[in-house]
Amino acid sequence: MAWPWLLPFGLFFVASVAQAAVVEHTFNVGNLSISQLCQPARIITAVNGRLPGPTVEAREGDTVVVHLVNESPYNMTIHWHGVFQRGSPWADGPAMVTQCPVKPGANYTYRFNVTDQEGTLWWHAHISFLRATVYGALVILPRGGAGAYPFSPKPHREETVILGEWWNANVYDLQQQVFLTGDTTRMPPADAYTINGKPGDLYNCSAANQTYNFRVRSNETYLLRIINAALNTPMFFKVANHTFTVVGADAAYTTPYETDVVLIAPGQTVDALMVAGAAVGRYYMAASPYDSAIPQGPQFSMTNGTAIVEYAGSAGEDKPQLPPRTEYNDTDTAFRFLSNLTALVLPGKPTVPLSVDTRMFVTAHYYGDDASAGVYTRDFPDRPPVIFDYTAVASDNDTLKYTTKSTKVRTLRYNETVEMVLQNTRLIAKESHPMHLHGFNFFVLAQGFGNYDEAAAAPRFNLVNPQERNTVAVPTGGWAVIRFVANNPGMWFMHCHFDAHLDLGLGMVFEVQDGPTAETSVPPPPMDLPQC
Ligand code: C2O
Repeated sequence: MAWPWLLPFGLFFVASVAQAAVVEHTFNVGNLSISQLCQPARIITAVNGRLPGPTVEAREGDTVVVHLVNESPYNMTIHWHGVFQRGSPWADGPAMVTQCPVKPGANYTYRFNVTDQEGTLWWHAHISFLRATVYGALVILPRGGAGAYPFSPKPHREETVILGEWWNANVYDLQQQVFLTGDTTRMPPADAYTINGKPGDLYNCSAANQTYNFRVRSNETYLLRIINAALNTPMFFKVANHTFTVVGADAAYTTPYETDVVLIAPGQTVDALMVAGAAVGRYYMAASPYDSAIPQGPQFSMTNGTAIVEYAGSAGEDKPQLPPRTEYNDTDTAFRFLSNLTALVLPGKPTVPLSVDTRMFVTAHYYGDDASAGVYTRDFPDRPPVIFDYTAVASDNDTLKYTTKSTKVRTLRYNETVEMVLQNTRLIAKESHPMHLHGFNFFVLAQGFGNYDEAAAAPRFNLVNPQERNTVAVPTGGWAVIRFVANNPGMWFMHCHFDAHLDLGLGMVFEVQDGPTAETSVPPPPMDLPQC
């Protein structure tokens, strides 16, 4: 007669373990009238009438369902930046890569799991420049909740800190200018940098609602989930009189790393603990640009986007202190931060693959002519079409080194291991491009300046605890080496996360074949691009 006793006990046990849940949202994308920088009210595209849009919070293993209702005048898609989308590649979101745009007046439901990843990700429009105002956080807690973080101290509270750019102009029209002319210089710098949608009070504008306020209590620990949602600007992030312990980046845990400045490129996220250990008072949190372009010099607005960290008990009137500014061209500081991060190696988590099936050397070129292609082909090359001194000073025949315009994919067998060297070139300008891969995290084995030299670099690869990311800011005039395992069938966009460069063709697609038995299969013939 054991059954009647065992059964209730078994049910109780199951119920006490956190179960995968369905997290469901409706995103109404439509016009929002908003006034920033003391300008007359303007119409932007936003989700649920908010800037930033709603935070999607889930636990590892949950299913996320988002109903996109397009009430805006523009075609729309939403990308879930950093979500692996295993088994749901069609829900990834990049327009014309995995889906047709959702037309004005139409609906579309995204459904995917957030499995085997936790930390801070985000979502954004993946069409035109509309992600300038259509973005928000996607937070994946451990299955056991916030108590299960593999770092200490455990935060008392968490804050999402989304850095952005703001234009007084219509961003859809700006995109048309850049795309139709192929001229990035037609992309004016942002009029302001924002923190959680607000520019702060250093922009000669005294309107009260311009500044985001973080209220803190003395000696409590805050987990800042920092996201760079800007279109084109890497940022230095600081809080006056405070330091950070970085514990994660791109939803992968890092070895705790102490710093007073965070460098975060568009597409990246950084999770950092901050102790409210300063004197009771008010302090600026500041986001300022990192402009790595050589030789062009500053193309970005040299302003500070700010928010205020306000201690409980501080008189609201104190003039806050600004953190010391990091120079816009301080590549040393940027590189120190980006190259010092390492992974927190945890039992049961993937580690860097030690053998490599496919080696690719990929240079950042742009297309230089107008040949159009109505199909995609599978001949994305493993080597650049022209070998030259990529990072030396410009020469007269540089135009020969531009690529042609085409739609090429690289087919990968299921589970093949890929090592990719990303080499920056001087074409147009040397610049730190934030290269983002959909569908995967990759390991960053090494980074450096100048032309990649395998003999010198390979012995220094970090094969023990390399940082895991979905977006790597390749050093300006330099290179980065990444590895990933192609264990996720689908069509995965890889591209520069500067939106101004996406329109210039700085992207490609991996076609990862299906299933473990696909090794012998012959790829199907080239396909027409989607007719949307
Ligand atoms: Cu965050 Cu293809 O983008």
